[in-house]
Amino acid sequence: MPNSSPITAIQHPIFAHAKIKVYVKRDDLIHPIISGNKWRKLKYNIALAKASGKTGIVSFGGAYSNHIHALSYACKLNQLNAVGIIRGEPHYLSNATLSQASSWGMDCQFVDRLTYKHRNQADYLAQLQKKYANYLIVPEGGTNQLALKGVAEVITELDQQLDYDTIITPVGSAGTISGLISADDNRHPILGINVLKGAHYLKEEIEHLLSNQTQNLNNWQLFNDFHLGGYAKFSNDDANTLAKINQQMGITFEPVYSGKMMLGFLTLVEQGYFEAGQTVVLLHTGGLQGINGLLERKKLASDQWPWQLVQ
Ligand SMILES: Cc1ncc(COP(=O)(O)O)c(C=O)c1O
Repeated sequence: MPNSSPITAIQHPIFAHAKIKVYVKRDDLIHPIISGNKWRKLKYNIALAKASGKTGIVSFGGAYSNHIHALSYACKLNQLNAVGIIRGEPHYLSNATLSQASSWGMDCQFVDRLTYKHRNQADYLAQLQKKYANYLIVPEGGTNQLALKGVAEVITELDQQLDYDTIITPVGSAGTISGLISADDNRHPILGINVLKGAHYLKEEIEHLLSNQTQNLNNWQLFNDFHLGGYAKFSNDDANTLAKINQQMGITFEPVYSGKMMLGFLTLVEQGYFEAGQTVVLLHTGGLQGINGLLERKKLASDQWPWQLVQ
């Protein structure tokens, strides 16, 4: 498995106007399937499962989850069984995400929303562990301390790739931003674009994930107003704007995570948030397979958003 990703400089008239330099850390290029933060977060979980002789991995996700999609393929590559506890009904098995996950060997177990809410509760997890005795249970989105360790490697790579002032990342379950914060040690501001509406608990979640760190890591900020309506929500105008940006920059940012980061970032630049002379790095967290599900549900137009083929 490749371990590092390149950086790409991107241009936009408002970057020139604000006198800032902008780079994208291309974790979307890490692997055609296990891309972006998925590989960073799974790397040490997979290593633990293998080193401790586990039969497989059980994890959780929605019907279009990037994490579930990547986990199924990572398990296949590593001769581990994969069980996905999926929120929703069995008919989702034929969708673009889960049809691939199951073709790679994942056993998708569908649960109703109420059961899914128990996914982090000790008694539910104990029951699951009893059922899947020799399996490693990994939380939704892959977010745990081993995920932070994997994401920390983004900082190690960046430190060798360029001098930079600020890093920006999308935030869903907070594992990625917490990994960046833990490795950066207050050296650079880390800005998170929250892709969920009203998820103010994420600030506490980040603090919780960082609670075992020895020093007080406080050089970060979460932006809660760039969710475009809520998780996986966006208007046709947002999708059109993003499609144009993608075309201009030659990089695909999907509208659920990295696209919301990009649009939020452009707003911050317009608001004069960044001082002249700064170099900003946007972390592309991958997840391009999600475009297929959005095309399938007609949330994106196929003439602007090509199908993201993955084999
Ligand atoms: C493509 C993509 N980017 C970003 C995120 C957000 O990362 P995190 O959940 O670690 O906050 C996710 C969800 O895990 C994702 O699938």
